Parts: sequence; structure tokens; C-alpha cells
Amino acid sequence: MATQTTPATNQPVARLSEILARHENDDRWSEKLILDGRNRAALISSVAGTPGDPHLHPDFNEWWLGLGGQTSWQIGEYEPVIAEFGDIVIAPCGQRHDIQTVGEGHGRRLVVGLETSNHDLKGVEPSRLIPVDESLEPPNRIHTSLKYMLERHGTDTDWSEEILLDQRNRINMIHQLPGGANRPHWHPDMDEWWAVLKGELEWTIGDGEPFRAGVGDLVFVEAGYAHAIRTVGDESTIRLAVTTPDVVHYFLDDPDAPPPPKS
Ligand SMILES: [Fe+2]
Ligand SMILES: [Fe+2]
Repeated sequence: MATQTTPATNQPVARLSEILARHENDDRWSEKLILDGRNRAALISSVAGTPGDPHLHPDFNEWWLGLGGQTSWQIGEYEPVIAEFGDIVIAPCGQRHDIQTVGEGHGRRLVVGLETSNHDLKGVEPSRLIPVDESLEPPNRIHTSLKYMLERHGTDTDWSEEILLDQRNRINMIHQLPGGANRPHWHPDMDEWWAVLKGELEWTIGDGEPFRAGVGDLVFVEAGYAHAIRTVGDESTIRLAVTTPDVVHYFLDDPDAPPPPKS
């Protein structure tokens, strides 16, 4: 596999278009993008016919975000699901996962696992396959598609819902109307990151210059830096926010909150 790890991980913004441009001629590649102290996130891209590597992890829940094309996941004893851009797939701890690109062109996924994850446990075939239970509500569905969330909540209001909640992560999907903004805050002990799934947003981190991020881009902020986020343009936005399950917020407009230690 062509692997390229430059530029360094944890860029304030990792732009999907720039990453793809670096791999124009590669059929199969990966780039490590984020190390937040609990997760290692890497973008993987491959074409149909690339052999899978079915394995399981005994010690953590692994999850993926679809970032283009079509990819098939066979998780545990569940029938394969096809995930596309903006979909989240979870392999609960101990459940084998077999991932294959299907359809035309590249299937791209952001894999999020433990920094120390390995692929040592292989070769366990499921003894039966049962359908994924689509009636379960979020969080922690095996497959939560962006389409499902849009049908569930629409685009007429601001909304936010947990997609995943476990010992390591809380993932919220946040829909924000044009002109909307967060309540600026900082986190004392947690790096936060986001994936933009719809529209365009502007981040201001600490005293830095504001920058924009669009569909497919990842944004990272280190613990201790204030962050202000707003939707720009005429289209509503959707972003995934990846935090710890017990995230602490100190809001800049709260007179009782300590000021951010970094700027
Ligand atoms: Fe895995
Ligand atoms: Fe935050």
C-alpha cells in the first residue's frame, strides 16, 4: 500500500481535496491524520477488488466515517451494509469486520481506532448472518447513514444527536442553519476534532485567523484553545464533533469559567 504520512497529524484543517491530490495515481493508500490521545484516525482509500483483511479487536470499539464512494462492511454476525459519504459504521469490541470497496472508483473511509490497535486476530468467520436491526435508535447503531439522519431530522431546524457513545468517544452530528454559531468555549483536557459533511463552516481557534472548512475536511483543536464555529454561506451545515464521553466545557461568556490557558 502506498502510505504517506506527510504532512504531520493534527493539522488545524486537513482538506480532503489536498489529500486526494497527493494520491492521484495510487489505487490503494492511507494517511494518518489525527492522534488525539485516545484515537488514531487515518484516511484509507482503495478500489473494488482490493483484498479485505478480516480481523477483530478484543479491546476497543472501532468506527469509520465514509468519505466517498461505496464500501461494504460485514460486522460480527451481521449481513454486509453498504456505506457512502457521511455514513458512520461501528464494529463493537470483539466483532470481526471485513471491509471491501464496491462499485466504481475509490471507496474512502476514515478509520478511527486505538493508537495501539493491531490486526493480529484474524480468520474468525461468522457462523451465521442476520440482518442489521434498522429499527434501533441512535446512538451506537451498526450503520448510521447521513441519509437516515437527514430523513430523521430534516434541514429546517438546528439539531444535534449522538451517533456514538462509548468509553472513549462521544460523536455528535450537528446540523446548523445559515448564520448559526456555537457558544465559544474551550476544553481543559481534551483535543476535539470535527468532520464537515455538508456546507461550509468557519473556525476561529484561540487568537488565530479564522479559516473555513468544507465537505470532507477535518478540523482539529488542541485542548486549552478556545474555539468559535459558525456556518457561512447560504447552505445549512452538518459536522461530526468527536469528543470524550465526559467532555467539560468552559464557556467564554461565563464569568465563573476560567479563561483559556492557550491562545
Ligand atoms: Fe479493525
Ligand atoms: Fe468544543
